[in-house]
Amino acid sequence: MTVLHTPSVTLRPWRATDADALIQHANDRRISKNLRDRFPHPYGRADAEGWIAFATSQAPLRYLALTLNDEPIGSVGLDAFDDVHRHTAELGYWIGAAHWGRGYATDAAIAMTAYGFAELGLERIQAGVYDWNPGSERVLVKAGFQLEGRLRRHAFKDGVFGDVLMYATVRAPRV
Ligand SMILES: CC(C)(COP(=O)(O)OP(=O)(O)OC[C@H]1O[C@@H](n2cnc3c(N)ncnc32)[C@H](O)[C@@H]1OP(=O)(O)O)[C@@H](O)C(=O)NCCC(=O)NCCS
Repeated sequence: MTVLHTPSVTLRPWRATDADALIQHANDRRISKNLRDRFPHPYGRADAEGWIAFATSQAPLRYLALTLNDEPIGSVGLDAFDDVHRHTAELGYWIGAAHWGRGYATDAAIAMTAYGFAELGLERIQAGVYDWNPGSERVLVKAGFQLEGRLRRHAFKDGVFGDVLMYATVRAPRV
């Protein structure tokens, strides 16, 4: 079973019994406004059950629950690219707002990045951040990602165009 321990949170596979906790934390405009439209608002039971079914169907696992005392408070994952980009993934994460500012996202990003390089055959991990989300940029910088560029007006979210800041890290060269 894939369990990643960090100095603060533990990353473990989602379980069907996590649905209530998932809804409690995910049903929050402060989270959905920073993610893709596929992360809905409001976030209901069908969304939670659908997510857990999807997240647990991958082999090897690419999406893990971010937990404190075994209770989910957020999510972290690596979206696959394909074709010539198949050794690249996009890192995504969110934390329930009651738990912000304690380094949990940073610890999760570091652990998931190491897992992606060690276990998923990745060469590059990237993350695109909307230009209204400096907290997430800070997470990526603390996790060792570098800013590669600004994709101007690449996102159309809630009726507004926004720039996307492209952060990435690549696997350390093998010696
Ligand atoms: C972004 C998010 C994941 C951060 O989670 P977190 O656990 O609070 O992150 P951390 O505590 O590890 O680090 C946050 C850092 O951002 C900083 N920060 C927070 N808000 C900030 C702001 N408005 N401007 C600048 N820095 C900010 C914090 O001070 C902290 O940096 P520090 O340790 O140097 O003080 C969380 O706010 C969240 O889930 N947001 C909604 C979903 C989202 O944005 N996901 C990422 C999409 S790219």
